[in-house]
Amino acid sequence: MEGEDSLRPPPDFRGTSESEEQVMSEVHLGCPPGHSGPHISHFIISLPPSVRGGDEPIEDDYSGEKLSLARKEYDLDGDGDLILKRRTKPLRDYFVVAIRHNITSSIPRVGLQVWKAELVLADFVLHKMFTSKELDGIVAIELGAGTGLVGMLLARVARTVFITDHGEEILDNCAKNVHLNAAIFHPRASVYVRELDWNCSWQPQVIEDLESKESYIWNKTEVEEFWKASFIVAADVIYSNDLTDALFSTLHRMMSKCPEKVLYLALEKRYNFSIDDLDVVANGYSHFRSYLREGDSDGDLESGSLHSFLGKRVDLAEIPQYVRDYERGNDVELWQIMYGERKQ
Ligand SMILES: C[S@@+](CC[C@H](N)C(=O)[O-])C[C@H]1O[C@@H](n2cnc3c(N)ncnc32)[C@H](O)[C@@H]1O
Repeated sequence: MEGEDSLRPPPDFRGTSESEEQVMSEVHLGCPPGHSGPHISHFIISLPPSVRGGDEPIEDDYSGEKLSLARKEYDLDGDGDLILKRRTKPLRDYFVVAIRHNITSSIPRVGLQVWKAELVLADFVLHKMFTSKELDGIVAIELGAGTGLVGMLLARVARTVFITDHGEEILDNCAKNVHLNAAIFHPRASVYVRELDWNCSWQPQVIEDLESKESYIWNKTEVEEFWKASFIVAADVIYSNDLTDALFSTLHRMMSKCPEKVLYLALEKRYNFSIDDLDVVANGYSHFRSYLREGDSDGDLESGSLHSFLGKRVDLAEIPQYVRDYERGNDVELWQIMYGERKQ
């Protein structure tokens, strides 16, 4: 994470070289201090009254192992009428996602942590799930997923979710999270943790052998399913200009072939003092914005516009907070990004 817009190192880690420099997400501020190595946090998701589960509660085991979706079982009397049972316990008004993560990490391993933009994106996806059927049965992709929280939430309603990142250590950790939380997914959802490196040319390496045990490599059937994706999400992937360029080049390849795909990208706007500008600036953010033409999502791209990506900021004030115990603040933005052919 080079450049002027890097993530923030905690004070006690300053002074090390950049590749070993440790950074810490503020999401983990309450975690045991001095703990190194993986830690499991339990993110509690509030359910609005309209979607609260049945009255037979799920075993709320905070280890995350025993969580299951609400079961609805009914008893009928001799005439076939429903026997209403007296409620003995209150309706469940939350569910829990267990996330294995590190509390600090080196810069190349930031995907082992959960970042605030991921929680904001989680709120947005949950809001869509709770208020519409738009995401039911879709194919979805999370890019730069890190621990995979948003992808796993999508798996509650989607048909297929590809949770993607790059590097074995990050993907291994993400796969462990998918395993930990499998009970909260839709029973028929297919969830794949796959390598998608923005610095490699798309399509990714494909294996022909469907029986192969090679982890994280795509097979042909998955790639065919990938192209059917209508919904792409990414959180906190804007922090180095080189990576932003690689990300948009991947998006261009993905979205130009299937322009009906829509991307929701959440980012944390980070400011740093710039010697060149002699001011506090958000250069990484400005670089990201330079890829976007802004306007209404239904308007045609202007003739002569150099921008293929049409960006529209989502008003976060309209998105309730379902993920408990984090402070959203106003340094996180959410963008809806669509693709339109560039006209010269
Ligand atoms: C700051 S973390 C965000 C992780 C997660 N989305 C979150 O917000 O908690 C940035 C993510 O981008 C991923 N990333 C960095 N370079 C990448 C590349 N070339 N291809 C794919 N993913 C990459 C990292 O591995 C990491 O998971």
